[in-house]
Amino acid sequence: MMKRKNVLTVMIGAALTFGITASAYAATTLKLSHNHPRGHVVHQAMDAMAKEVSLLTDGEVRIRIYPDAQLGTQRESMELMQNGALDMVKSNAAELEAFAPAYAAFNLPYIFRDKSHYYNVQEGEIGEEILASSRDSGFIGLTYYDAGARSFYASKPINTPADLKGLKIRVQPSPSAIAMVNALGGSPTPLAYGELYTALQQGVVDAAENNIPSFSLSRHSEVSKYYSLDEHTMVPDVLVISNTAYDGLSDEHRAALKLAATHSMELMKKLWAKSEATEREKAEKLGVTFIEPNKAAFIKAVQPMYQEIAKSNPELNKIIERIKAVK
Ligand code: GCU
Repeated sequence: MMKRKNVLTVMIGAALTFGITASAYAATTLKLSHNHPRGHVVHQAMDAMAKEVSLLTDGEVRIRIYPDAQLGTQRESMELMQNGALDMVKSNAAELEAFAPAYAAFNLPYIFRDKSHYYNVQEGEIGEEILASSRDSGFIGLTYYDAGARSFYASKPINTPADLKGLKIRVQPSPSAIAMVNALGGSPTPLAYGELYTALQQGVVDAAENNIPSFSLSRHSEVSKYYSLDEHTMVPDVLVISNTAYDGLSDEHRAALKLAATHSMELMKKLWAKSEATEREKAEKLGVTFIEPNKAAFIKAVQPMYQEIAKSNPELNKIIERIKAVK
């Protein structure tokens, strides 16, 4: 495993010798990995954050973004961050469930009533608590990014849960996603995002689920010609940073980073809405049919998940109750 390199280079020696403040020489470069192409709006939102951080800190803190999973899958990036080889990762709530169980709340089907409920939960007390909940795993969350609603897609139309029966459906490595596909009658197959295009093309899996921009930008729209707008989950993307990198920053730099991250979250909301429309149009041009199924059957089929949580997972159940109470 790579050793962490010069995350914080403070020239204390020079400062002592010349009697000037160490901060004049401080230069911190935070390496950030994610698995989307540069054309994805989350890349643009984080790029804006990187520029703002540099501006706010007079260039003393810089963020270098590595897109396209060039530093590994989302899971591998998380491990590199835990080992100190990376400082930040743009992951998402499904992947993070394995590191901090409270993220499961975001992965439950039909938990959010609508977009404003989804934003209010993330930006309120519960959202902040969940971002902080992974500290024991070596990192914390800085902000959420809108990632819309996820729906099923396949090479055949999916109108009801019955259409999922017998289908091998790629899910993220999240226990909630697996439980959801089981509840809907499909056969869940966890796979890394980067392996999915080939898996769909070669029939290793029959279907998948994602938001429209990811479906289009990953070119899954070339192989799956039916996108069914069942909108089962609204799983936010999450920007995380290692405790070591975060704690190594001065109070001022931490505040600058948090502010720029929050601004990029706000920017992302606007970028997301546009991206959903643009990418849907692109997919339609490629011959993808968008289906509006009756959601009621999907909602009904997943209710046993909530009954099971109420019985066996009081902590998660408490979060669910609090989420429901948010306006
Ligand atoms: C979304 C999300 C990614 C995630 C991907 C997936 O595109 O933004 O963080 O990796 O879904 O389904 O794996």
